[in-house]
Amino acid sequence: MPSDVLKAARRALQTGALLAMACVGAAQAQPAVPAQAALCAACHGAQGNSRTPSIPSLAGQPKVFLENTLVLIREGLRDIPAMKGMLDKMPDSELTSLAVYFNAQTPLPQTTRPQAEVFARGKDIAQKMMCASCHQADYSGRAQIPRLAAQPEPYLLESMKTFRDHPGAGRDTIMAATLYGVKDQELADMAHYLAHLK
Ligand code: HEC
Ligand code: HEC
Repeated sequence: MPSDVLKAARRALQTGALLAMACVGAAQAQPAVPAQAALCAACHGAQGNSRTPSIPSLAGQPKVFLENTLVLIREGLRDIPAMKGMLDKMPDSELTSLAVYFNAQTPLPQTTRPQAEVFARGKDIAQKMMCASCHQADYSGRAQIPRLAAQPEPYLLESMKTFRDHPGAGRDTIMAATLYGVKDQELADMAHYLAHLK
């Protein structure tokens, strides 16, 4: 497990209570903040905007993608060591509340600066490979297809490499097929492009 995930895990345990208060404080808008969202914030960031390179943001992810993924994680089908056991006792209704909540949060842009050349290369490859045909023109995703825009660049790269090289159980085989034979450099360019979309 990458060390930033371990650090985030430790933060999760130490700051859970604090974050719970912070989240309740910020909970004026609809929908209500589910109690468990405080736990998620320690790793996935405030309002689901991750600032940890290897951890995806949840803000603005399609509700269906979140619901499906949370069920897969709870059932142990998508194996995420950092989240092991975390959703064990959560009924579907709580997973749905979490999905509704994170879907309603505004995804914030990355704080890293785009490099014009790499960005343009990544955009070109993504266009040729027609990634937008599923992920939408603005890469905001829809239904069971996740948002890619403004995800942390290292997370995007790692998840694409995983799809290409050793797609695990609980992940859609369509992505493994899409990325079959794509070079590391091309994945890196696309990750840079997608991360710096707003
Ligand atoms: C200890 C850190 C940690 C905590 C706490 C945590 N997660 Fe995660 N989560 C991760 C990591 C790491 C990944 C990415 C795993 C991977 O590489 O695919 C992840 C992935 C996910 C994904 C898949 C997202 C995607 O784009 O594919 C969802 C959904 C998710 N988490 C929801 C939650 C929710 C909801 C909570 C709170 C109940 C939560 N997580 C708490 C570490 C954490
Ligand atoms: C045929 C539809 C389709 C096409 C084309 C497609 N994707 Fe995907 N993509 C998906 C689906 C469905 C998922 C969710 C997979 C899962 O959760 O197991 C996904 C997941 C991903 C993820 C993981 C995101 C996360 O948060 O977990 C990345 C990164 C990604 N796609 C990048 C790309 C790139 C780059 C391209 C173009 C080279 C592309 N996709 C083309 C359907 C598609």
